[in-house]
Amino acid sequence: MTLSDKIDQAVEILQGAAEAVVFSGAGMSAESGIPTFRDPGGIWDQFDPEELGTGSGLLHTLARHPDRIRSFLENTIEIFLAAKPNPGHLALGAMEQMGLIRAVITQNVDNLHQEGGNSRVLEVHGNLFRQRCLACGQKQASEKVSYLMHIRRTLHKLASLDLAAILRELPRCRCGSPMRPDVVMFGEAVQDMHESFVEADGCSVMLVLGTSGVVYPAAALPQRAKQAGAKVIEINPGDSVYAGIADLRITEKTGRVLPEILQRLQHA
Ligand code: OAD
Ligand code: ZN
Repeated sequence: MTLSDKIDQAVEILQGAAEAVVFSGAGMSAESGIPTFRDPGGIWDQFDPEELGTGSGLLHTLARHPDRIRSFLENTIEIFLAAKPNPGHLALGAMEQMGLIRAVITQNVDNLHQEGGNSRVLEVHGNLFRQRCLACGQKQASEKVSYLMHIRRTLHKLASLDLAAILRELPRCRCGSPMRPDVVMFGEAVQDMHESFVEADGCSVMLVLGTSGVVYPAAALPQRAKQAGAKVIEINPGDSVYAGIADLRITEKTGRVLPEILQRLQHA
Protein backbone atom coordinates (compact mmCIF):
# COMPACT_ATOMS: atom_id res chain seq x y z
CA MET A 1 0.00 0.00 0.00
CA THR A 2 1.37 3.47 -0.87
CA LEU A 3 1.53 6.33 1.64
CA SER A 4 -1.38 7.98 -0.16
CA ASP A 5 -3.49 4.80 0.15
CA LYS A 6 -2.72 4.63 3.86
CA ILE A 7 -3.72 8.25 4.35
CA ASP A 8 -7.01 7.53 2.55
CA GLN A 9 -7.55 4.58 4.85
CA ALA A 10 -6.93 6.75 7.93
CA VAL A 11 -9.46 9.30 6.61
CA GLU A 12 -12.01 6.54 6.08
CA ILE A 13 -11.54 5.18 9.62
CA LEU A 14 -11.83 8.68 11.14
CA GLN A 15 -14.95 9.52 9.15
CA GLY A 16 -16.64 6.28 10.07
CA ALA A 17 -16.00 6.71 13.78
CA ALA A 18 -17.30 8.75 16.66
CA GLU A 19 -14.72 11.19 18.00
CA ALA A 20 -11.15 9.91 18.19
CA VAL A 21 -8.68 10.12 21.07
CA VAL A 22 -5.02 10.98 20.50
CA PHE A 23 -2.13 9.45 22.43
CA SER A 24 1.12 11.31 21.74
CA GLY A 25 4.79 11.26 22.65
CA ALA A 26 7.96 13.20 21.99
CA GLY A 27 7.99 12.46 18.23
CA MET A 28 4.93 14.71 17.91
CA SER A 29 7.08 17.72 18.92
CA ALA A 30 10.26 16.69 17.06
CA GLU A 31 9.32 18.95 14.13
CA SER A 32 8.92 21.83 16.61
CA GLY A 33 12.65 21.46 17.30
CA ILE A 34 12.34 19.57 20.60
CA PRO A 35 14.55 16.49 20.58
CA THR A 36 12.89 13.16 21.46
CA PHE A 37 14.23 11.07 24.34
CA ARG A 38 15.37 7.84 22.72
CA ASP A 39 16.18 8.62 19.08
CA PRO A 40 19.89 9.05 18.19
CA GLY A 41 20.94 12.49 19.53
CA GLY A 42 17.85 12.49 21.80
CA ILE A 43 17.72 13.75 25.38
CA TRP A 44 18.59 10.37 26.95
CA ASP A 45 21.40 10.05 24.41
CA GLN A 46 22.98 13.37 25.44
CA PHE A 47 22.17 13.25 29.16
CA ASP A 48 22.13 10.31 31.56
CA PRO A 49 18.54 9.57 32.68
CA GLU A 50 19.92 8.31 36.01
CA GLU A 51 21.45 11.76 36.58
CA LEU A 52 18.66 13.98 35.32
CA GLY A 53 15.51 11.85 35.15
CA THR A 54 14.98 11.19 38.87
CA GLY A 55 14.75 13.43 41.94
CA SER A 56 17.60 11.71 43.75
CA GLY A 57 19.79 11.68 40.62
CA LEU A 58 19.14 15.37 40.17
CA LEU A 59 20.22 16.18 43.75
CA HIS A 60 23.30 14.00 43.39
CA THR A 61 24.29 15.63 40.10
CA LEU A 62 23.65 19.09 41.51
CA ALA A 63 26.08 18.35 44.35
CA ARG A 64 28.79 16.80 42.16
CA HIS A 65 28.42 18.27 38.67
CA PRO A 66 26.38 21.51 38.84
CA ASP A 67 27.83 22.41 35.42
CA ARG A 68 25.83 19.52 33.88
CA ILE A 69 22.58 20.81 35.38
CA ARG A 70 23.39 24.32 34.16
CA SER A 71 24.09 23.22 30.61
CA PHE A 72 20.96 21.02 30.57
CA LEU A 73 18.83 23.96 31.74
CA GLU A 74 20.45 26.47 29.36
CA ASN A 75 19.96 24.11 26.46
CA THR A 76 16.36 23.32 27.43
CA ILE A 77 15.38 26.99 27.85
CA GLU A 78 16.53 27.89 24.34
CA ILE A 79 14.79 24.88 22.78
CA PHE A 80 11.45 25.63 24.47
CA LEU A 81 11.67 29.37 23.75
CA ALA A 82 11.98 28.55 20.05
CA ALA A 83 9.35 25.76 19.96
CA LYS A 84 6.05 26.53 18.24
CA PRO A 85 3.21 24.12 17.39
CA ASN A 86 4.12 22.35 14.15
CA PRO A 87 1.72 21.49 11.28
CA GLY A 88 0.88 18.22 13.05
CA HIS A 89 -0.28 20.00 16.22
CA LEU A 90 -2.24 22.52 14.15
CA ALA A 91 -3.95 19.75 12.18
CA LEU A 92 -5.08 18.09 15.43
CA GLY A 93 -6.49 21.45 16.60
CA ALA A 94 -8.43 21.79 13.35
CA MET A 95 -9.69 18.19 13.63
CA GLU A 96 -11.07 18.99 17.08
CA GLN A 97 -12.88 22.01 15.55
CA MET A 98 -14.44 19.63 13.02
CA GLY A 99 -15.71 17.46 15.88
CA LEU A 100 -13.37 14.59 15.07
CA ILE A 101 -11.18 14.59 18.18
CA ARG A 102 -12.50 14.32 21.71
CA ALA A 103 -9.32 14.36 23.77
CA VAL A 104 -5.55 14.41 23.50
CA ILE A 105 -3.61 12.30 25.98
CA THR A 106 0.03 13.34 25.85
CA GLN A 107 3.28 12.31 27.49
CA ASN A 108 4.74 15.67 26.40
CA VAL A 109 5.21 18.51 28.88
CA ASP A 110 5.68 21.24 26.26
CA ASN A 111 2.15 22.71 26.09
CA LEU A 112 2.17 22.51 22.27
CA HIS A 113 -1.12 20.61 21.92
CA GLN A 114 -2.93 23.45 23.73
CA GLU A 115 -1.08 26.02 21.59
CA GLY A 116 -2.10 24.02 18.53
CA GLY A 117 -5.78 24.44 19.41
CA ASN A 118 -6.77 21.33 21.39
CA SER A 119 -8.91 22.07 24.42
CA ARG A 120 -9.05 18.77 26.30
CA VAL A 121 -5.42 17.78 26.87
CA LEU A 122 -4.59 15.17 29.51
CA GLU A 123 -0.91 15.58 30.40
CA VAL A 124 0.12 12.31 32.00
CA HIS A 125 3.70 13.49 32.60
CA GLY A 126 2.75 17.03 33.64
CA ASN A 127 3.49 20.45 32.17
CA LEU A 128 6.83 22.25 32.31
CA PHE A 129 5.19 25.66 32.59
CA ARG A 130 3.10 24.82 35.62
CA GLN A 131 4.42 24.79 39.19
CA ARG A 132 3.37 22.60 42.10
CA CYS A 133 3.76 23.55 45.75
CA LEU A 134 6.15 21.24 47.59
CA ALA A 135 4.06 21.60 50.78
CA CYS A 136 0.36 21.87 49.91
CA GLY A 137 0.32 20.58 46.31
CA GLN A 138 -1.38 23.74 44.95
CA LYS A 139 -0.73 24.18 41.20
CA GLN A 140 -0.15 27.37 39.27
CA ALA A 141 0.43 27.85 35.54
CA SER A 142 2.88 30.43 34.19
CA GLU A 143 3.03 32.23 30.88
CA LYS A 144 5.62 30.25 28.92
CA VAL A 145 7.91 32.95 27.52
CA SER A 146 8.12 35.10 30.64
CA TYR A 147 8.71 31.99 32.77
CA LEU A 148 11.57 30.81 30.53
CA MET A 149 13.10 34.30 30.38
CA HIS A 150 12.93 34.49 34.16
CA ILE A 151 14.83 31.18 34.52
CA ARG A 152 17.37 32.34 31.93
CA ARG A 153 18.01 35.57 33.87
CA THR A 154 18.21 33.69 37.17
CA LEU A 155 20.76 31.23 35.76
CA HIS A 156 22.93 34.10 34.49
CA LYS A 157 22.71 35.76 37.89
CA LEU A 158 23.68 32.69 39.95
CA ALA A 159 27.45 32.30 40.10
CA SER A 160 27.14 28.87 41.65
CA LEU A 161 24.28 26.48 41.20
CA ASP A 162 23.67 24.68 44.48
CA LEU A 163 20.62 23.41 46.32
CA ALA A 164 20.42 26.42 48.65
CA ALA A 165 20.53 28.85 45.70
CA ILE A 166 17.89 26.91 43.80
CA LEU A 167 15.55 26.69 46.79
CA ARG A 168 15.96 30.43 47.27
CA GLU A 169 15.01 31.13 43.66
CA LEU A 170 12.05 28.76 43.36
CA PRO A 171 8.70 30.55 43.03
CA ARG A 172 6.58 30.66 46.21
CA CYS A 173 3.09 29.33 46.75
CA ARG A 174 0.44 31.39 48.48
CA CYS A 175 1.13 29.20 51.54
CA GLY A 176 4.74 30.44 51.56
CA SER A 177 6.44 27.20 50.47
CA PRO A 178 8.59 26.76 47.35
CA MET A 179 7.03 25.43 44.14
CA ARG A 180 8.71 23.00 41.69
CA PRO A 181 8.00 22.38 38.01
CA ASP A 182 4.95 20.12 37.76
CA VAL A 183 6.58 17.45 35.60
CA VAL A 184 6.73 13.74 36.32
CA MET A 185 10.17 12.27 36.85
CA PHE A 186 10.97 8.53 36.83
CA GLY A 187 9.53 6.90 39.93
CA GLU A 188 6.94 9.64 40.49
CA ALA A 189 3.18 9.31 40.12
CA VAL A 190 1.70 9.99 36.68
CA GLN A 191 -1.13 12.51 36.33
CA ASP A 192 -4.66 12.39 34.84
CA MET A 193 -4.30 8.62 34.45
CA HIS A 194 -7.83 7.75 35.53
CA GLU A 195 -9.35 10.16 32.98
CA SER A 196 -6.92 8.83 30.36
CA PHE A 197 -8.04 5.24 30.89
CA VAL A 198 -11.68 6.35 30.68
CA GLU A 199 -10.93 8.06 27.35
CA ALA A 200 -9.05 4.99 26.07
CA ASP A 201 -11.87 2.64 27.12
CA GLY A 202 -14.53 4.83 25.52
CA CYS A 203 -13.00 5.81 22.17
CA SER A 204 -13.68 4.16 18.84
CA VAL A 205 -10.38 5.28 17.28
CA MET A 206 -7.06 5.97 18.94
CA LEU A 207 -4.37 7.88 17.04
CA VAL A 208 -0.97 6.86 18.44
CA LEU A 209 1.51 9.56 17.46
CA GLY A 210 5.28 9.68 17.88
CA THR A 211 5.82 7.57 20.96
CA SER A 212 8.18 4.65 21.55
CA GLY A 213 5.61 3.18 23.97
CA VAL A 214 8.12 2.03 26.56
CA VAL A 215 7.25 4.15 29.61
CA TYR A 216 4.41 2.70 31.69
CA PRO A 217 1.67 3.11 32.74
CA ALA A 218 1.00 5.57 29.89
CA ALA A 219 2.28 3.11 27.27
CA ALA A 220 -0.59 0.74 28.08
CA LEU A 221 -3.26 3.16 26.76
CA PRO A 222 -3.30 1.89 23.13
CA GLN A 223 -3.76 -1.71 24.32
CA ARG A 224 -6.62 -0.56 26.56
CA ALA A 225 -8.29 1.18 23.63
CA LYS A 226 -7.81 -1.85 21.40
CA GLN A 227 -9.22 -4.24 24.00
CA ALA A 228 -12.25 -2.02 24.37
CA GLY A 229 -12.88 -2.32 20.63
CA ALA A 230 -11.20 0.80 19.20
CA LYS A 231 -9.30 0.92 15.92
CA VAL A 232 -5.66 1.94 16.42
CA ILE A 233 -3.89 4.14 13.87
CA GLU A 234 -0.19 4.70 14.49
CA ILE A 235 1.94 7.41 12.85
CA ASN A 236 5.65 7.03 13.56
CA PRO A 237 8.58 6.86 11.14
CA GLY A 238 10.49 4.53 13.46
CA ASP A 239 10.11 1.09 14.99
CA SER A 240 7.03 0.37 17.00
CA VAL A 241 5.95 -1.71 19.95
CA TYR A 242 2.37 -1.28 18.73
CA ALA A 243 2.83 -3.05 15.38
CA GLY A 244 0.88 -6.05 16.75
CA ILE A 245 -2.20 -4.02 17.66
CA ALA A 246 -2.22 -1.23 15.08
CA ASP A 247 -4.98 -1.57 12.48
CA LEU A 248 -3.07 0.94 10.35
CA ARG A 249 0.55 1.96 10.66
CA ILE A 250 1.90 4.97 8.76
CA THR A 251 5.69 5.12 8.91
CA GLU A 252 6.10 8.86 8.33
CA LYS A 253 6.46 12.03 10.40
CA THR A 254 3.33 13.34 12.12
CA GLY A 255 4.08 16.87 10.89
CA ARG A 256 3.78 15.58 7.34
CA VAL A 257 0.93 13.07 7.62
CA LEU A 258 -1.56 14.85 9.91
CA PRO A 259 -1.94 17.97 7.68
CA GLU A 260 -2.50 15.63 4.74
CA ILE A 261 -5.19 13.71 6.65
CA LEU A 262 -6.82 17.03 7.61
CA GLN A 263 -6.82 18.27 4.04
CA ARG A 264 -8.50 15.12 2.76
CA LEU A 265 -11.04 15.21 5.61
CA GLN A 266 -11.90 18.80 4.69
CA HIS A 267 -12.39 17.92 1.03
CA ALA A 268 -14.13 14.60 1.55
P1 OAD B 1 10.76 8.54 22.82
O1 OAD B 1 11.96 9.37 22.59
O2 OAD B 1 10.93 7.30 23.65
O3 OAD B 1 10.12 8.11 21.43
C1 OAD B 1 9.93 9.04 20.40
C2 OAD B 1 9.22 8.35 19.26
O4 OAD B 1 8.94 9.34 18.29
C3 OAD B 1 10.05 7.26 18.56
O5 OAD B 1 9.25 6.11 18.43
C4 OAD B 1 10.37 7.88 17.18
O6 OAD B 1 10.41 6.90 16.16
C5 OAD B 1 9.21 8.81 17.01
N1 OAD B 1 9.46 9.99 16.14
C6 OAD B 1 10.61 10.68 15.94
N2 OAD B 1 10.41 11.72 15.11
C7 OAD B 1 9.08 11.70 14.76
C8 OAD B 1 8.24 12.52 13.93
N3 OAD B 1 8.70 13.59 13.30
N4 OAD B 1 6.93 12.17 13.82
C9 OAD B 1 6.43 11.10 14.48
N5 OAD B 1 7.18 10.30 15.27
C10 OAD B 1 8.48 10.59 15.42
O7 OAD B 1 9.64 9.50 23.45
P2 OAD B 1 8.30 9.12 24.26
O8 OAD B 1 7.67 7.92 23.68
O9 OAD B 1 7.50 10.35 24.36
O10 OAD B 1 8.94 10.44 30.41
O11 OAD B 1 8.91 8.78 25.69
C11 OAD B 1 8.07 8.45 26.73
C12 OAD B 1 8.57 9.06 28.02
O12 OAD B 1 9.95 8.74 28.23
C13 OAD B 1 8.57 10.58 28.07
O13 OAD B 1 7.32 11.15 28.37
C14 OAD B 1 9.55 10.87 29.18
C15 OAD B 1 10.64 9.92 28.76
O14 OAD B 1 11.50 9.50 29.76
C16 OAD B 1 9.15 11.11 31.54
O15 OAD B 1 9.79 12.13 31.56
C17 OAD B 1 8.48 10.50 32.75
ZN1 ZN C 1 1.44 25.71 49.06
